Amino acid sequence: MAGFLRGRDLLSIADLSDRELEQLLDLGLELKRQDRGGVRPRPLEGKIVGLLFQKPSLRTRASFDVAAKHLGGQAVYMGPQEVGMGEREAVDDVALVVSRYFDAVVARVFAHQVVVDLAEHASVPVVNALSADEHPCQAIADLMTIKEWLGALAGLRVTYVGDGNNVAASLGLACAKVGIHYVCATPEGYALPPSFAEAFARAATRSGATYTALRDPREAARGAQVLYTDVWTSMGQEAEREARLRAFAGYCIDEDLLALADPAAIVLHCLPAHYGEEITREVSRHERSAIWDQAENRLHSSKALLAAILA
Ligand code: CP
Ligand code: NVA
Repeated sequence: MAGFLRGRDLLSIADLSDRELEQLLDLGLELKRQDRGGVRPRPLEGKIVGLLFQKPSLRTRASFDVAAKHLGGQAVYMGPQEVGMGEREAVDDVALVVSRYFDAVVARVFAHQVVVDLAEHASVPVVNALSADEHPCQAIADLMTIKEWLGALAGLRVTYVGDGNNVAASLGLACAKVGIHYVCATPEGYALPPSFAEAFARAATRSGATYTALRDPREAARGAQVLYTDVWTSMGQEAEREARLRAFAGYCIDEDLLALADPAAIVLHCLPAHYGEEITREVSRHERSAIWDQAENRLHSSKALLAAILA
């Protein structure tokens, strides 16, 4: 199954066909099963992945590094201080140079246009490891986790509560492709942009999934099978923190909100979490929290992605 995205970039969930997304989920789950059984195939033998990061990271950096190594390859990390992408050196020059060293580049950037430019000028595959617009690698791990906990995906109701950000966009597009009804509760001024609703409709053409934008988190939580949240202030928005704290008051996943969801609902958060803001510590440790499996699944889904692109 590996190799089905050979040579491809992944900048957005929209870059994947419905079938390719399903294949990634299945491969991630299969690699996880194999790993649990002590089996680690090495399809990346001799391959080196460049990790080019403009922002901090725990899960994305570590999971891609470990993923490359589990699969028999290697990874080289370059942080913001080392490269100065777009400042010390033009993005297209960086793309031309890293293409001479690496078999693939995993890039975390501020402006989404930077990964677009990297991909345009690199001769090796480029993976978006988070931009201002999207976090596709996270969404693949999210769906893997939902599938593990709840079985089938099509027909579920996933409710996202909080900021209409990169994580909310990629999660929504992934839901659209697999037939999950996506409900987003955001305060005024923080909803996903109108272009998201258009992208969702395109992604849902085959699946028939629906997208509902709401203000009220309680209305959104009712009957949901998954409650999902992310930080109110993303990396790069620190100057807006005080205004955001005021705007998002009441948009916290706590036990009262969880009680409105389906009795078998699970809770997800991409992490890092700000406890007492978008989620309580109690809910993160609740028996229906799948957050720690979700974090683990970043590893297995990163392995699936690297194997799909490079094997
Ligand atoms: N969820 C996630 O992407 O975490 P990091 O920012 O730590 O990589
Ligand atoms: N929305 C957050 C996600 C962190 C993984 C950010 O962009 O900082």
